[in-house]
Amino acid sequence: MLTQIKNLASKIAPRLIEIRRHLHSHPELSGEEYQTAAFVAGVLSSSGLHVVEGVGKTGVVGELVGNGDDKRVLAIRADMDALPIQERTQLDFASRIPGVMHACGHDVHTTVGLGVAMVLADLAGNLPGKTRFLFQPAEEIAQGASWMVKDGVMEDVSAIFGLHVFPSIPGGSIGLRYGALTAAADELEIKIFGESGHGARPHEAIDAIWIASQVITTLQQAISRTHNPLRPVVLSIGQIQGGRAPNIIADQVELRGTVRSLHRETRAQLPKWIETIVANTCNSYGAKYQVDYRQGVPSVQNDYNLTQILQAAAEEAWGSDRVQILPEPSLGAEDFSVYLDYAPGTMFRLGVGLAQAPNHPLHHPQFEVDESAIITGVVTLAYAAYKYWQQGLYSEDNLYQI
Ligand code: NI
Repeated sequence: MLTQIKNLASKIAPRLIEIRRHLHSHPELSGEEYQTAAFVAGVLSSSGLHVVEGVGKTGVVGELVGNGDDKRVLAIRADMDALPIQERTQLDFASRIPGVMHACGHDVHTTVGLGVAMVLADLAGNLPGKTRFLFQPAEEIAQGASWMVKDGVMEDVSAIFGLHVFPSIPGGSIGLRYGALTAAADELEIKIFGESGHGARPHEAIDAIWIASQVITTLQQAISRTHNPLRPVVLSIGQIQGGRAPNIIADQVELRGTVRSLHRETRAQLPKWIETIVANTCNSYGAKYQVDYRQGVPSVQNDYNLTQILQAAAEEAWGSDRVQILPEPSLGAEDFSVYLDYAPGTMFRLGVGLAQAPNHPLHHPQFEVDESAIITGVVTLAYAAYKYWQQGLYSEDNLYQI
């Protein structure tokens, strides 16, 4: 079967490069993926899939019905949105849209998703159940997966696979991880209300700027003393606003930040922990406060059983020297985790690093990929899907958390 999948993939390779370049030169921002969605829907229908457009606002779902009575539904997810970045590569298929660029490789994800759909469509006679392809919008604003889920894309899904390109892994290699891959990313807004006064007479005022600085310092110090160091939490205040003039004591300061964590239990404790520190600090100096903690996307926790399937597929296809087990998770976020509230899944990193430096990071205006990785992605995912269907029913015992 692997040989058959490899042959099918190399047959469509030129078409896939063409698709990727088309998508790359026509990027669309999060929630505005209209042309991309129409294009994706066209490719899916011409490959014989049942297609529904307008799912999750600008998303597309393609379904491939198998040839048996296996009730499981396997989902494969790709994201389609681009970033508000002016492309500065010299590629002849560089973005034609001013100020918009596929700088996070979602053009590659979409292409790989389409490639897997084409390959599996040819093998549908060998697949016992349904394979559902989710082309989601708005990953960059961490909304698209929720929109898709709201429209029912996870109904009956028993497992889900996803991928993200990674420039620091060489093109053609793959990075896998058991357990945590990315972090939960929450938003924090703190308002501190003091009392205004003359800068020369601080004792007559309540200095919101000084109290804000105490809040920040206490939060950062307390993290290292009150949380298990083996269960990371990162809190970064990225915005601070307050004050009117150099000689007026500020009566109001607003702090905004991001909070990252890997473990469910740790994450659950954070809102109360932060509120307590803010409250204690503000109360000590007579200030009032308001804390707004907004939960964003959860951490991606890769399922053990599905990651094993993916590892076996990748190693058989490419040899174990092209498959790395990633030693550390990232504290970045990925809304693939939203699907994992409904079914176990696994996401891998597809190496797209170029043989020659410089390899610019994701979200860089000169970000480029090794296009040969598209076939690596297609074969790995298509073969992993085949292996999934070969395997017996999913068992809860295989659930794995770090
Ligand atoms: Ni991305």
